[in-house]
Amino acid sequence: MRKKLIAGNWKMNNTPSQGAALIADIKETADKASCDVVVCTPYICLPAAVKAAEGSKIAVSAENMHFEDKGAFTGEISAEMLKEVGVTYTVIGHSERRQYFAETDETVNLKTVKALANDIIPIVCVGESLSQRENGVTFDFIAMQVKLALKNISAQDAEKVVIAYEPIWAIGTGKTATDEQANEVCAFIRKTVKELYGENTANTMRILYGGSMNAKNAAGLLAQSDIDGGLIGGASLKAPDFCTIINAATNA
Ligand code: 13P
Repeated sequence: MRKKLIAGNWKMNNTPSQGAALIADIKETADKASCDVVVCTPYICLPAAVKAAEGSKIAVSAENMHFEDKGAFTGEISAEMLKEVGVTYTVIGHSERRQYFAETDETVNLKTVKALANDIIPIVCVGESLSQRENGVTFDFIAMQVKLALKNISAQDAEKVVIAYEPIWAIGTGKTATDEQANEVCAFIRKTVKELYGENTANTMRILYGGSMNAKNAAGLLAQSDIDGGLIGGASLKAPDFCTIINAATNA
């Protein structure tokens, strides 16, 4: 049985003090929940978020990370830096980073490898565009993204990886994939992982759905056979909505 995971991706929202206040508002619900709860915050918010989450079940995640250990990479943040402030997860390859910041399948893979080497759990994002879906290449595209992200990663390490299926057309649009559409692709991702690593790894790996998941539609999505949680943007910024989603995962 895979433990569900609810992760809020704040994106470029919340100052350190606003973030700490939001965490204080979700702490009680998170502590009572049977799922894992993660908040993915801007770099500058991470230390305050770790402090605010202290003594609770909430884990703190970065939204990105560089793949080199150190060096002349102005503006970048390394795994070691994240670890030192108490970060235990990082999002990798979000579609917004692929689209606006030239993230590629190659850098996604390098970052995934580096996160695992530093005991940081990578939440690797994959997802097709509307035109890819309309042209019938969703599964080909997702298989490619998954296989390239997991290159040079052992089965033992792959079990720790979280994959988030986030169809680009559903992100921030209010247009959610149906329960069946989301589950179909999540099941396909698991099948792809099975081909790469075998049944055990495939059955252990957590696969999330993201894209306009909210307090209303979460229960339906989280009840699906291959959806092990959610990566939530907009609705993770409002404590009552995020708490409703955490409770939906507990009840799923
Ligand atoms: P929304 O929930 O705002 O659509 O964002 C989803 C997302 O991109 C989470 O990473």
